[in-house]
Amino acid sequence: MKDLSQKHIVLGLSGGIACYKAAELCRLLIKSGASVQVVMTEAATQFITPVTMQALSGREVFVSQWDDRQSNNMAHINLSRQASAILVAPASADFMAKLIHGRADDLLSLMCLARPLESTPLILAPAMNKEMWSHPATQRNVNQLRQDGAVVLGVAQGEQACGETGDGRMLEPMEIFEELCDFFVPKRLSGRRVLINAGPTFEPIDPVRGLTNLSSGKMGFALAIAAKASGATVTLISGPVHLGTPQGVRRINVQTAKEMHDQVMQEVDQADVFIATAAVADWRVKSYSDAKIKKSPARQAPELEFEENPDILSAVAHSDRARKHQLFCVGFSAESHDLLKHASEKRVRKGVPLMVGNVGPLTFGRDDNELLLIDDQAVKTLERSSKEKLAHLLIADLADRLNGFLKE
Ligand code: C5P
Repeated sequence: MKDLSQKHIVLGLSGGIACYKAAELCRLLIKSGASVQVVMTEAATQFITPVTMQALSGREVFVSQWDDRQSNNMAHINLSRQASAILVAPASADFMAKLIHGRADDLLSLMCLARPLESTPLILAPAMNKEMWSHPATQRNVNQLRQDGAVVLGVAQGEQACGETGDGRMLEPMEIFEELCDFFVPKRLSGRRVLINAGPTFEPIDPVRGLTNLSSGKMGFALAIAAKASGATVTLISGPVHLGTPQGVRRINVQTAKEMHDQVMQEVDQADVFIATAAVADWRVKSYSDAKIKKSPARQAPELEFEENPDILSAVAHSDRARKHQLFCVGFSAESHDLLKHASEKRVRKGVPLMVGNVGPLTFGRDDNELLLIDDQAVKTLERSSKEKLAHLLIADLADRLNGFLKE
């Protein structure tokens, strides 16, 4: 679960059936440590009660601009001044139309208008029928809201409460929560293109068997998420793993080391950074059998012949672009002992400016890890923590290195 413990979110609800999802969103925000102040329009109270939202947020809910519970009677000013962000979910077509005109005849729209533009971001999660969403008026309003500085999230496609099917459903609570978390990540990699490979490779022996390893792909996927949240354009080349594609990340699936090599080589010209987290098989079976290998009557084990796979990282690190400092390469080194010694040697051997060392048996398949960042000058430890958190720390560290390294 991501940490929003330093954040105060004003969660606004305008009228729409998606209000029921705002209850779950509120729960997620509270669980992540954020404090949440709910503000509802009158229309929203037709769909879900303030009692529900009060119970979930642990705070009194505000609905009316005439509410006299605030001593100065200025809820629209007080509530927005403390907010790290105002998140309106659902944002109805009517509510967005109101905002573009600067109208302010209820507390929520009044508060949005009265917020300090530089310090209180406004994020909207639209929700409406597909015809309402695609109507030129709504699309015009969305564009105008973006020009006015609001962040308008996308909508989901699917079955709607009215029985029709199409675009306009509100994103799921977890998707909105993730978008909000990403919003708060500093955009250190804005304009950068990051290529990551992840997971194991699978080297077939026959149509039903193969050689692989225990890499789960979690670290590589966490790095893809962190790089995306930091503003990068991310391409993720993944071996066979059981992980969903991170939102906004372009994913290419491969099986073998050879396929991974070919895909990386195709993509690397469009990258500024290559992060090699994949556990690439060093060897593939030379004597691949088109038919399933049967047990021999003599019970003799089959003899497998191997040939070496290309070293992807080494190939990329020795490319023209890497040598000309147009591409920054990061390797991962999983060792079982003498981590610093082996990872440092590997950094030099592979020709990369940064090698990230970790202890293989203590990280494969797990959700946490501990990393050593080794360059030609120094060694930095990133203490044991979730792969998610480590990914953000590593991306922040990387962003600093790029500025001194890359020749644009
Ligand atoms: O030599 P070793 O496999 O320990 O090196 C690990 C690093 O090299 C990782 O970054 C891994 O992705 C990369 N590698 C590669 N191609 C290989 C073997 C390893 O890119 N064939």
